[in-house]
Amino acid sequence: MSNIGSYEVRLKDFNWSISEKELGYKPGNTLNIGWYCSDRICLQGKGDKLALLWESSTGAEKKFTYHDIRRASNSIAAFLHGLGIKPEDRVCLFMDKVPELYIGLLGILKTGAIGQHLFSAFVDESLFVRLDNAQTSAIITQKKHAPKVRKILDRLPRLKHIIIVDYDGKTPLREREVPFSLEKAVPIDHFDVYPTQAESPSLLHYTSGTTGQPKGVKHVHYSLVSQYLTSKWVLDLQEDDIYWCTADPGWVTGTSYGIVGPWSMGITQAVLDAGFSAEAWYKFIEKYRITMWYSAPTAIRSLMKAGNEVVKKYDLSSLRHLASVGEPLNPEAVIWSERIFGKAFLDTYWQTETGSIMISNYPGMKIKPGSMGKAFPGITATVLDPKTYEPYNVTGKIGLIALKPGWPSMMRTYWNNEEAYKNKFKNGWYLTGDRASIDKEGYFWFVGRDDDVINTAGHLVSPFEVESALLEHPAIAESAVVSKPDPINMEVVKAFVTLKPGFAASTDLELEIMNFIRKKLSPLAMPQEIEYVESLPKTRSGKIMRRILHAKEWGEEIGDTSALEND
Ligand code: WT7
Repeated sequence: MSNIGSYEVRLKDFNWSISEKELGYKPGNTLNIGWYCSDRICLQGKGDKLALLWESSTGAEKKFTYHDIRRASNSIAAFLHGLGIKPEDRVCLFMDKVPELYIGLLGILKTGAIGQHLFSAFVDESLFVRLDNAQTSAIITQKKHAPKVRKILDRLPRLKHIIIVDYDGKTPLREREVPFSLEKAVPIDHFDVYPTQAESPSLLHYTSGTTGQPKGVKHVHYSLVSQYLTSKWVLDLQEDDIYWCTADPGWVTGTSYGIVGPWSMGITQAVLDAGFSAEAWYKFIEKYRITMWYSAPTAIRSLMKAGNEVVKKYDLSSLRHLASVGEPLNPEAVIWSERIFGKAFLDTYWQTETGSIMISNYPGMKIKPGSMGKAFPGITATVLDPKTYEPYNVTGKIGLIALKPGWPSMMRTYWNNEEAYKNKFKNGWYLTGDRASIDKEGYFWFVGRDDDVINTAGHLVSPFEVESALLEHPAIAESAVVSKPDPINMEVVKAFVTLKPGFAASTDLELEIMNFIRKKLSPLAMPQEIEYVESLPKTRSGKIMRRILHAKEWGEEIGDTSALEND
């Protein structure tokens, strides 16, 4: 029996107080996610239950019970407290998927500070803009990533502490660096958890938009109310589950459903700190008897590509429930997973800004492969006419996906950018920036984004950020960045550039430019192709029209070009 039972019944009787009651929370109480995800589970008598099963790329294993993560997060909290970290200070977690990346967040939250996960593949510029914007006070990292922090330290006067979790005592510590070892730290049985309230800030997640620098999405402790109930009703987490969320906490899936959701339910979760390989993933499922698997379309398509023979080598019979998020889940992938694993991946749709699943397929509900499903109970989702911002009164028309504001995990603002936040609302609706249609039965069908943001392998890349970085290359005069289709990653980054006088187009230069972006931003943002052009299509006012380049890449109609410079 699934947790949700009947979607229709849940819809009819819905109230967020269902979640509050299960969490034992009453409006006005203190509410601290760090406490909820560890101390509370222990108080329920589940302290000896496994909270985290961890495996490294070399096969090293670590296991933590709820008592362990409670004490370890207390130790981290006490350490931060000792450094002088104050409530609402930003503390960044910049690590591979090591246990400290997960347990560290609980420690930060217990001090009342705000957790800021940044993907460990970020380098110089991408790291700098996010730490600078958040005015981050401390960063918790590994020695392999510390050099990247050192490089930008001069420009970050507010960053007072660089906490290294695996310091080996060999090389001397540099300026502002302090060691902290979870293994060597004295486990602390009691820490006075800071009494955060529902609206106290909890997390800052950076996300890329079309224009400007990445924006810090501010979430609050009350987001727990959404994350708990969606973990229960959509991910269907149950007492004996061994749950695996493949997302990195550098992205919101990895925090909402890789830390907060499962641990607030007292579920055992497994983490594999290694890159993708079909064999390694299947082996991991077999070894840990994974029952619930939350992953992403690019990974599923990569598994499809690896073929069906490799699947047969492993016993994957433990799998009970599968779900996917982050980009369009093509019908073939749904059908394939049903055939190969005996379970279809259920598509779920949401965003960094929404903090929890908004539209989804539910256990027991009819699946229409290719559809994202229906709104979560308590969420009012619709599509708006892009001209009037009114919901359509007929079904089947493509419009803007919009949500009625007010659910618990809704972002509270963009950090230091209230204006951009306000721009996300029109006519009383929150605009997701995506387009879809709704069919007669209320199922949502994703069409595409309503902006130029590129979704490569489920990660958003801002064309603006890549274009700006390209312009810093000595050979480049102008640049325009769009997506191009890709069979596995759905979209990849492609750059069009014009060269400065004295530079000649060549394959060597193309590779050099790609590398330049990889080192400056991240491997994700690196263009997979550079096309040299004589000029870029522009409007009369000089704005580069990415739309035209995009349409060409995708073989689509170019549409209205009346604003073009030389038409
Ligand atoms: C954007 C949000 C929240 C999970 C990680 C991504 C796209 C998300 C789906 C889906 C088609 C999807 C949208 C959305 N997206 N889920 N099921 N089908 N597209 O969070 O980085 O904030 O990206 O990812 O375009 O707006 P994010």
